[in-house]
Amino acid sequence: MSEHAKTPAAKGGGAKASKPGGQKGILEAKGITKVFGSGEIEIKVLKGVNMHLNGGELTLMMGPSGSGKTTLLSILGCILSPTGGELLINGSSTKGLGAEGLADLRRKQVGFVFQSYHLFPTLTAVENVMLALDVRGSGVDNAVAEAENALKSVGLAHRINAYPKKLSGGEKQRVAIARALAGSPSVILADEPTAALDSENGSAVMALLSEVAKDPRRAVLAVTHDHRTLSYADRIIHIEDGRIVDSHKTEHSATEGRKSHAVI
Ligand SMILES: Nc1ncnc2c1ncn2[C@@H]1O[C@H](COP(=O)(O)OP(=O)(O)OP(=O)(O)O)[C@@H](O)[C@H]1O
Ligand SMILES: [Mg+2]
Repeated sequence: MSEHAKTPAAKGGGAKASKPGGQKGILEAKGITKVFGSGEIEIKVLKGVNMHLNGGELTLMMGPSGSGKTTLLSILGCILSPTGGELLINGSSTKGLGAEGLADLRRKQVGFVFQSYHLFPTLTAVENVMLALDVRGSGVDNAVAEAENALKSVGLAHRINAYPKKLSGGEKQRVAIARALAGSPSVILADEPTAALDSENGSAVMALLSEVAKDPRRAVLAVTHDHRTLSYADRIIHIEDGRIVDSHKTEHSATEGRKSHAVI
């Protein structure tokens, strides 16, 4: 399959440099394996995953239930240590890092979005985002402004002081995306971010992730089961039984940033 560079019209014209293919490699996984348990109850979940995520791209990952998607996402996001292999995020290797080193890399470089939002019900939208900034070690000086800007960037300027129970599912997921973006991590990982949403809200969240992925300093990877979301992808990865069995770029329509459904 041939690889087609994204046109500036389709991707907002951001300059992307430094790697063959014109886009910056943000994350690289080399020979990632993961084994749970030991002896007779040993389960080999990941069996040598090689992949990369480029800045300015939304990658969607699909695969059957139990194929290892969440496990892989957890490893790429430094929540879980691999049994073998190496991960490079923005040039930093996870090799030899202990739990604290991994956590540090995660705080600096990774933002997560979950299917069930994971917002604190007793905190407002802006407080939920500020909490994430605090965890990342951002100074408190401009935390309010930074959190408000993150919420504005996801279209929630008018809901800054709302508590999660007053927000719709789509709005909650947008707060979660703002929280993931706060502090400008280079990798955004989303595990089935639209699974709890109706199709309209699901599309809006996917469109937002696609917008978020236009920044060439950021790579976005989302797990999805929903074929309707595939039209937003720059790259689609298929995983089966712990192995990447296909990875290809998609073709985008150059008109007004709309993307075609064609997969090449
Ligand atoms: N902590 C764990 N201990 C033991 N086995 C685990 C653990 N976490 C995951 N597994 C097993 O690893 C396999 C892959 O799980 P994973 O959650 O990564 O799948 P998935 O592709 O995300 O599936 P789904 O689409 O259902 O979310 C499954 O067989 C699961 O039971
Ligand atoms: Mg899963």
